[in-house]
Amino acid sequence: TNDAAADVLRSHVRDIPDWPQPGVVFKDITPLLSSPTAFGVVIGAIADIARERGATTIAGIEARGFLLAAPVADRIGAALVPIRKKGKLPGPIRSATYDLEYGSATIEIHADAVPAGERVLLVDDVLATGGTAAAAHGLLVECGAEVVALTVLMELSFLPGRSRLGTLDIVPLLAI
Ligand code: PRP
Repeated sequence: TNDAAADVLRSHVRDIPDWPQPGVVFKDITPLLSSPTAFGVVIGAIADIARERGATTIAGIEARGFLLAAPVADRIGAALVPIRKKGKLPGPIRSATYDLEYGSATIEIHADAVPAGERVLLVDDVLATGGTAAAAHGLLVECGAEVVALTVLMELSFLPGRSRLGTLDIVPLLAI
C-alpha cells in the first residue's frame, strides 16, 4: 500500500545536509536501494499506481528515475522510456531546456519513443522545484503521449514544484 511505502521511505531515505551545495538537503535513496525488502515495497506501490491508471509505458528521468522506472516496467509488463540528459540519446530527439537556480539544463527523449495516445506514467525520485518534471512532461506531451500521472518517491512540499505542473496528476509516495 502507499502507507507502507511512505513508512519505508521515512526509514530508508537519508538526508545529506549541504549537498550538492550549501543550504541544500539532499535526499539520498541509496539505503532504499540496498534493502531488497524496502525497495520491493516501493516498486510494488508504484506498479500499483501504474496498473490503476492503465499505464502501458513507464518513463523514467535520468538518473535516479531510471532505477525506479525499470523495475516497475518489468513488473507490470510495460514499455520503458528513458528521458536523458542532453547528448546521450543517439536517435532523432525532442529536447526541452529549463531554468536552474544558476544557468539551465536540457533533457531529451527519442522522438519516436512513445506511440501517439500511449498511456504513460512518469517516474522520478524527487519533485523539488518541478523544472525537471515539467520539462519531461512537456516532451511526453509533444510526443503525443497521454501522461496519466507523475509519481515521485518524495514531493518537497515546501517548494513550488506542483504549481509548475498545471493539471498533471501528481502522486507522491511521501510528501514532506
Ligand atoms: C534531481 C532529481 C530530479 C530533479 C528534481 O536530479 O532526481 O530529477 O533533480 O529537481 P527539480 O524538481 O528541482 O527539477 P538531478 O538533477 O540531481 O540529476 P541526477 O539524478 O542525474 O543526479
